[in-house]
Amino acid sequence: MNILVTGGAGYIGGTVSRLLLSAGHAVTIYDNLCHSKQEAVAAGAKFVEGDLADRALIEDTLRQSHFDGVMHFAALIEAGESMKVPEIYFRNNTMATLTLLEAMVATGHDRLVFSSTAACYGEPVSTPITEEAQLLPTNAYGESKLLVEQMLTWFNRIHGFRYASLRYFNVAGAIEGYGEAHEPESHLIPLILDVALGRRADIKIFGEDYPTKDGTCVRDYIHVQDLADAHFLALGALDRTSRLIYNLGSGQGFTVREVIDSARRITGRAISVEECPRRLGDPAVLVASSEKIKKELGWQPKFPELDQIIASAWQWHQQRYS
Ligand SMILES: NC(=O)c1ccc[n+]([C@@H]2O[C@H](COP(=O)([O-])OP(=O)(O)OC[C@H]3O[C@@H](n4cnc5c(N)ncnc54)[C@H](O)[C@@H]3O)[C@@H](O)[C@H]2O)c1
Repeated sequence: MNILVTGGAGYIGGTVSRLLLSAGHAVTIYDNLCHSKQEAVAAGAKFVEGDLADRALIEDTLRQSHFDGVMHFAALIEAGESMKVPEIYFRNNTMATLTLLEAMVATGHDRLVFSSTAACYGEPVSTPITEEAQLLPTNAYGESKLLVEQMLTWFNRIHGFRYASLRYFNVAGAIEGYGEAHEPESHLIPLILDVALGRRADIKIFGEDYPTKDGTCVRDYIHVQDLADAHFLALGALDRTSRLIYNLGSGQGFTVREVIDSARRITGRAISVEECPRRLGDPAVLVASSEKIKKELGWQPKFPELDQIIASAWQWHQQRYS
């Protein structure tokens, strides 16, 4: 297959690109490098440096080659930042995606796998969260993605556009030689591993008064390679069906303190914590039900255990700074 990967210089897009290439597929990466570096572009991929909002460039890229599918990872991803400057999230995540969709329709491309997020749900009424749960984001990042999902529904109805919207929970872990390296980093596991490596003094816990077993937020972690597998299955399934929406998580919730304890076990290092007030827009508990994709597409996570996820991230993290 020939795949266009937007945001392919980032963490998840870069992982999926490498796995596609190693399976023998052709990959074109389209990224403006606003949160990544050109060195992260997978060897063997064609690279176009550009912004998705650049209609002429994205359309030209789509015209140069017929793609069997577009995997759309490019976005700004920081929920906290989105509560300070929501406008850049709506412009970069929602409006730029509309430009991509328009360019795809104009060039006869009709298959998209979209990186959506658990943040579309907001504070869940019950857990685990199924795809039928209410969609009420508590931060502008989640809203910027939900608006894309709503546009996709209309593109599907009106243009016959085929898409899979994958609502990821917390993605973590690494494949051989490539892992999480956000700039700046805001995700819990790499931040904890920075403390283990002595690159940061401590890990901040935002809120210890949530209604959870130890008062810290509960999240569901999915290994990036299992997430990549779901993309391959979803793209294939678009041959048979035109609209798919799936949650992707492990179905298990871990508190922030449990993640820190797991990292202490795996790294054998002391990890200091700093207790901080709650952050605006953080739901207390986010745990996925991924039963739908398991049942419909036969997806099965190969690395469901938190310790496995952290061990792979630790291996990458040490290599990255060695
Ligand atoms: N990491 C997670 O836990 C998680 C959870 C849920 C959803 N997601 C979604 O997965 C996707 C990938 O996340 P990630 O962790 O790999 O993030 P990342 O920041 O590592 O990668 C995003 C990439 O997109 C690029 N980009 C951003 N805006 C762009 C634009 N307008 N034009 C071109 N390129 C642009 C950035 O330069 C970066 O390389 C995002 O859409 C994110 O919302 C991630």
